[in-house]
Amino acid sequence: MANVIGGLATSHVPSIGGAIAKGLQQDPYWKPFFDAFDSIHAFLEREKPDVAVVIYNDHGLSHFLDKMPTFAIGAAEEYKNADEGWGIPVLPAFPGHAALSWHIIESLVNDEFDITSCQEHLVDHAFSLPLKLMYPDAKWPVRTVPITINSVQHPLPSALRCWKLGQAIGRALESWPGAEKIVVLGTGGLSHQLDGTRAGFINKDFDLLCLDKIVNDPVALTKYSNKEIIELAGSQGVELMCWIAMRGALQGRVSQLHSTYHVPISNTGGAVLLLENAPRAQAMAAE
Ligand code: DHB
Ligand code: FE
Repeated sequence: MANVIGGLATSHVPSIGGAIAKGLQQDPYWKPFFDAFDSIHAFLEREKPDVAVVIYNDHGLSHFLDKMPTFAIGAAEEYKNADEGWGIPVLPAFPGHAALSWHIIESLVNDEFDITSCQEHLVDHAFSLPLKLMYPDAKWPVRTVPITINSVQHPLPSALRCWKLGQAIGRALESWPGAEKIVVLGTGGLSHQLDGTRAGFINKDFDLLCLDKIVNDPVALTKYSNKEIIELAGSQGVELMCWIAMRGALQGRVSQLHSTYHVPISNTGGAVLLLENAPRAQAMAAE
């Protein structure tokens, strides 16, 4: 049985890539955000996960407006990053885990989720930057499974649907016969709006509420409609869905190991959250 050891949620703002390229990690604007990764590095060093399942939203690099899957999963042995026009370095290709991808796809389809399977899939900044933050030397020690949630073209899946997707991913991982240690990522958010009359909108109070609820009462976040999330968190604040799905995938006893909120990063409420997951069987044995 695979071992889901934890969840990591982080903002994925493209300028993080620019800051890394320019060596600005100690700059006062960036330092609190990059410092959050000291805890993440200690966790990764201690736990040495074999696989990262990355739940994120593609911004048009792999899925464009002409064909927009609600939920898609990469099923390849390698994923390339590419130039998205943000002026940030393209990162080395990421190793995939096609067998685990197909297991998740089969399990989700059996669980009544209609998934788009992608045997060719480019990964954008929402996938690549969190991996680069985790492993600054870009020598990826994990195999990866990219899972995308449409947060670009309406209609978008609801928070409740994304929570259920995450739970179904968690069931799929628990039924994987391999012995890999798996970390689940949710990337995006928190509040931000990049265009329109509310461009630059950030809601610190709502972000802090989300940081608490994701850990302690994730179901509370599933009560919000998409319209309410957009009002409260901005039109790109719906990237919160990826955090909700990540949390749904943690089926065991969850405890918070780290939380940082640093605002703004570019136009975004920047946040990092690390959760430990004692797998269900282990959690039950300890009770
Ligand atoms: C920004 C944030 C994002 O999540 C993104 O995908 C692109 C840009 C920003 O704040 O600049
Ligand atoms: Fe984004």
